[in-house]
Amino acid sequence: MKIVHISAECYPAAKAGGLADVAGSLPKYQKLLKHSTMVIMPHYYTNFRSKNEFKSVFEGIARLGSVDYDYHYQIFKLQNTELGFDLYSIDIPGLFDRENIYSYKDDTERFITFQIAALNWIKTFKKLPDIVHCHDQQTGLIPFFMTKVEAYDKLKEIPTVFTIHNGEYQGQFTFDRQYLLPGFNSYFSGQIEWHGFINPVAAAIKNAWSVTTVSPNYMDEIGFSMAGLEKLLQYEKGKSKGILNGIDTEVWDPSTDGMLQKTFSISTVEAGKKYNKKWLCKEFNLDPAKPLFTFIGRLVKEKGADLLPEAIYNMMSKYPGEQNVLILGSGDAPVQQALWDLEPQFKGNYCSYIGYNEKLSHIIYAGADFLLMPSRVEPCGLNQLYALRYGTVPIVRRTGGLTDTVTDIGDGGFGICHDQASAWDITHSIERAKSFFNKKKAFKENRKLIMQIDHSWNRAAEEYINLYKSLK
Ligand code: ADP
Ligand code: GLC
Repeated sequence: MKIVHISAECYPAAKAGGLADVAGSLPKYQKLLKHSTMVIMPHYYTNFRSKNEFKSVFEGIARLGSVDYDYHYQIFKLQNTELGFDLYSIDIPGLFDRENIYSYKDDTERFITFQIAALNWIKTFKKLPDIVHCHDQQTGLIPFFMTKVEAYDKLKEIPTVFTIHNGEYQGQFTFDRQYLLPGFNSYFSGQIEWHGFINPVAAAIKNAWSVTTVSPNYMDEIGFSMAGLEKLLQYEKGKSKGILNGIDTEVWDPSTDGMLQKTFSISTVEAGKKYNKKWLCKEFNLDPAKPLFTFIGRLVKEKGADLLPEAIYNMMSKYPGEQNVLILGSGDAPVQQALWDLEPQFKGNYCSYIGYNEKLSHIIYAGADFLLMPSRVEPCGLNQLYALRYGTVPIVRRTGGLTDTVTDIGDGGFGICHDQASAWDITHSIERAKSFFNKKKAFKENRKLIMQIDHSWNRAAEEYINLYKSLK
């Protein structure tokens, strides 16, 4: 099969979160199953771009709707073949010659143009794709364009799959900006509309041949709660499926991970984790003799990050000097500030690193004892899967993919779970974690056990292939 993935992010070229990890690994595992896979993404002006060699393979024009603004674009192919799939990035000067992936005022124009450019190129292929697989709202209009826009008539028989990685972000905009879209019969306007707006996620749910979410439990949850789209999801349930994400076990392998201070395998896990923990404790002024609780991620409500300052304060005041907490993340300014403000009070046991740091995240997965994920919404969550592979016990709120992947020690499992999104629940879980940490033998055995849980892409890559085949 010829599979084309279209995504705004793809690791290692550009990453803001888990979408990049998935777009940078699922295609590789599909290729291992002997399919031809490629990823099409925007060509951002990041370090990756300057450090890697690209070759121009196509030049074209993407007209932004009826505004008559023609963007000249080039398709670049990454020359390095180490990723395990073909990576193509679309260079659109004026829109993507910037450092960041999102959060510009013209994001709507940027991603509509990207989608148009991608389809204009695809329709010139000698062999058309067997599947076009779109990821998240930045590519949500593609299934509509392919089936309802005359200019893409040639593509209308190609099955499309739309994966919802995060339904909270829908990229909606008002109908007075419909002029940005390529021309289509106004009869089809309802196909892009939801609650009076043009909504790319709704458009994808309505027009894609199949809709997937990144865990089965999130699929069940969104029928009741997904930022206003519940009814639509219930209606389209018949073509929807939850497929649990995998992880790239080559990138995330503690025995070969070049970003670690010391690599380790199951037989050397104690010494390996101790070494990485020592390094972290030295770097961030923490106490290596005490359990290390960590959080890695976007400091936003969705992740429950706003609950952390209170939970940390309660824990640290109740049990002074008995545990360490290390935070790595960035996001909402008040949360960042509250996390900073805790530092002077709990020096020696608490530190927050506000920012994005891929290498540090790997060392934290390796050196931590516990990883906190008090998420309100978690479509899958990859952090807990990386933590498991690096022998770190996840402490999670039961939601979305966290419910699918973590079982509580009280239920014969290996992690710590709670139900409510509250500071109290987090502190209670930390208390339980500390008593687990003190049962040295059981804790060590658990480390070895969790490192062996198989979350590689092998199963899910095949599940996607079976889904594609069912659409042909
Ligand atoms: P989401 O995509 O919702 O942010 P996931 O759990 O799917 O959540 O994936 C998050 C990914 O981003 C993981 O690879 C995690 O290690 C990484 N990550 C998040 N925040 C940071 C950060 N501040 N520094 C380094 N890596 C981060
Ligand atoms: C999203 C979700 C996260 C998921 C990731 C990859 O960003 O928030 O839960 O793991 O996509 O699918």
